[in-house]
Amino acid sequence: MLFPDYRPRRMRRNETIRRMVRETRLHVDDLILPLFAIDGKDVKNPIPSMPGHSQLSIDHIVKTAEEARKLGIPAVILFGIPKRKDALGTQAYAKDGIVQRAVKAIKDKVPDLMVITDVCLCEYTDHGHCGMIAGDTVDNDASLDLLARVAVSHAKAGADMVAPSDMMDGRVTEIRNALDEADLSDTPIMSYAAKYCSAYYGPFREAADSAPKFGDRRSYQMDPANVREALREVSMDVEEGADIVMVKPALAYLDIICRIKDEFDLPVAAYNVSGEYAMIKAAAEKGWIDGKAVMLETLTAIKRAGADMILTYFAIEAAQALNDR
Ligand code: PBG
Ligand code: ZN
Repeated sequence: MLFPDYRPRRMRRNETIRRMVRETRLHVDDLILPLFAIDGKDVKNPIPSMPGHSQLSIDHIVKTAEEARKLGIPAVILFGIPKRKDALGTQAYAKDGIVQRAVKAIKDKVPDLMVITDVCLCEYTDHGHCGMIAGDTVDNDASLDLLARVAVSHAKAGADMVAPSDMMDGRVTEIRNALDEADLSDTPIMSYAAKYCSAYYGPFREAADSAPKFGDRRSYQMDPANVREALREVSMDVEEGADIVMVKPALAYLDIICRIKDEFDLPVAAYNVSGEYAMIKAAAEKGWIDGKAVMLETLTAIKRAGADMILTYFAIEAAQALNDR
């Protein structure tokens, strides 16, 4: 049908009709809030490149979790900043590690908030890589047992879901088997399945003190130029037993989210990463963009591309904006 018989503007005349024909709805249920746990009491170390976010001691983590719960946010994902780092990242699977204690504290006070834990070694290793080092490379197979130990120790501490972000080959199988053997067959795995080697992680590495001390992550994280490789990565994780597959970052990878949503039937998560957050915050601070509007547009676009859930540092602000509507 062509103009003048069809006039697309008829469907945009006012907010009521726009609401009726809107194809994508951002909802507070879509949001997952990342939090950084650190030792101590009443500690709140602001992260300069992520305005509004801080490294939080467990008392503040619990307060923020309560706030998230009140706003209707269903889940948080925890990252830990340990007191000590070593070659094998032993604090990542210590029974009294920072994440293990934070999980317990949240589940104690806010039991119906879903607590997801990031499973990786880079915050806990003195070299800052996501696996064990052998010579000058990351030893994939030797790292699998450590990652499985991390996942099991998080789940034993009460984590509702584990999210391996290391990108070692075969880690989903290893983690699934270890969870099942530990009688934790009900603990789902959200795998960072298509995780790219991205410069957008800069602010996070400052926040989590997890930058690699030598080299980079290009041998285990994906090349930003590839799309078929992402489909292969996701299909492996699906076969290995992942329950949710994640694409990360989100904004520069909307095409990847879209392809994965089309080709797989598992829920798709997208990680709106630290650099994406920092860019919007910085431009808004300068008065160059309307921060709230760009935030909502961005999250809606990630959902429109196919994400069923979004890990985002905007979770609290977005929930407030959505609740105000
Ligand atoms: C750890 C991990 C990273 C992020 C989540 N888990 C950083 C990295 O791979 O270097 C990035 C999150 C963000 O930038 O917001 N493996
Ligand atoms: Zn890592």
